[in-house]
Amino acid sequence: MAQKTKAKSVPPGPARAGSRRQALKLGQAHPAWAADADARTGDAGRADSRDPFSLQGRVAMVTGAARGIGLAVAERLAVLGAHVVLTDINQEGLERAEAGIAAEKGSAESIRLDVTDRKDIARVVDKVVARHGRIDILINNAGICINAAALDTTPEVWERQMTINLDAVFFLSQAVGAHMVEAGRGAMVNLSSFAAVVDVRPQKHIAYSVSKAGVAHLSKVLASEWAKSGVRVNAIAPGFVMTDMPLGAGMEMHDIWRKFVPAERFLHPYEIANVIAFLASDASSAITGQLIMADGGITIW
Ligand code: NAI
Repeated sequence: MAQKTKAKSVPPGPARAGSRRQALKLGQAHPAWAADADARTGDAGRADSRDPFSLQGRVAMVTGAARGIGLAVAERLAVLGAHVVLTDINQEGLERAEAGIAAEKGSAESIRLDVTDRKDIARVVDKVVARHGRIDILINNAGICINAAALDTTPEVWERQMTINLDAVFFLSQAVGAHMVEAGRGAMVNLSSFAAVVDVRPQKHIAYSVSKAGVAHLSKVLASEWAKSGVRVNAIAPGFVMTDMPLGAGMEMHDIWRKFVPAERFLHPYEIANVIAFLASDASSAITGQLIMADGGITIW
């Protein structure tokens, strides 16, 4: 029969890794690593951290927040304590989204932003920083998907797809990144897609897929450039999520796509929002420059 032992006050993590090590006092860095103890982990690097997932006191900006994944992310970040700045081109949807968060006692405001308009980007970023002093979290979520096979992809289709899905992510990251680098902290999460790593069937959207592969690599390079400044940049690759966007390929796709997913189900926007909230929080302070697959297993096969 297993003997009951009295719980020792040894913190989880580093102190348990080596048997000959001294138990650390709560919150204390390992003595041999004192010079490397880095305040930029926020609270998460401490053994006595109670809630590294909390976003209390953070200012978060979300693009494309009027509906779908962006709306779910805005709601989730607000629930975890962040003040959320919702942006979108859809003014009516924005107002509805802001009111929804306020009704749940979350802290939110909305500002119209067309992510393809660089003057608009500068105006909105300046406004948020003037009002709050900083932006701690940026979620580059706004995007469109144009279905067109390679031979049908006109220069206009290609450019429109890249302008919204890739160029805008760079220019907004640049504008917000300047403030984060100066502040010495920040977390960005960019919406890529499983289409960045495999070809999606049976519909065809080469420009969309390439734009999302670009987002993944852009995130990696920004993460590399800004790591020393305490700014983390990650990308997330959702599978099929139940929003308006995939419906553009036609309702008949549902039954076809379902067979491609090991669990034979589509994802809820909140399942993506949870992963994004984690990547935006100090709980993920060890993760930067990654493309996190949140695809329900669709890329297993
Ligand atoms: P959605 O179409 O439901 O919502 C997109 C939002 O972006 C809308 O509110 C729209 O008004 C806004 N938007 C579009 N153009 C804009 C612009 N120029 N400026 C500002 N806002 C603009 O799409 P969904 O499904 O919520 O997708 C969100 C992100 O997730 C997109 O980047 C998408 O590519 C990505 N994604 C979605 C998947 C899915 O299955 N739904 C799968 C993988 C990635």
